[in-house]
Amino acid sequence: MVWQEQPLFMGWCLNCHRNPENYVRPRDEIYNMNYVPAEPQEVLGPRLVAEYGIMPAEQLTNCYVCHR
Ligand code: HEC
Ligand code: HEC
Repeated sequence: MVWQEQPLFMGWCLNCHRNPENYVRPRDEIYNMNYVPAEPQEVLGPRLVAEYGIMPAEQLTNCYVCHR
């Protein structure tokens, strides 16, 4: 049933928006299917979040980010 799958789909979106630093990659690696971080994600992630000016999780998980 399609309507039951929607919250799961949203959960996938939210999971990442809650912790963008765990998933963020260098911009030029976004389409690389074989991407492996060049340094530990705990080091790279927070740095890229700052460098790219990614909004903090409190904002990225706000309903209006996706539901306008
Ligand atoms: C693997 C991680 C990840 C997943 C999965 C993900 N997002 Fe995101 N999303 C991000 C990050 C990181 C940003 C911030 C990008 C930036 O600021 O440059 C973002 C930004 C956005 C923005 C723009 C916010 C703004 O106002 O600038 C929207 C809208 C959005 N995501 C919607 C979604 C939706 C809808 C889904 C699920 C279908 C989804 N995202 C799944 C990581 C993710
Ligand atoms: C990162 C993006 C994102 C955020 C943030 C987000 N949602 Fe969603 N939401 C989705 C997606 C994608 C779907 C499934 C597709 C759709 O129905 O548009 C969905 C579906 C839903 C649904 C079921 C489908 C519907 O339209 O009735 C509800 C209810 C909902 N969201 C409520 C919320 C509420 C409340 C919040 C804030 C606490 C929230 N969402 C925050 C992406 C998001």
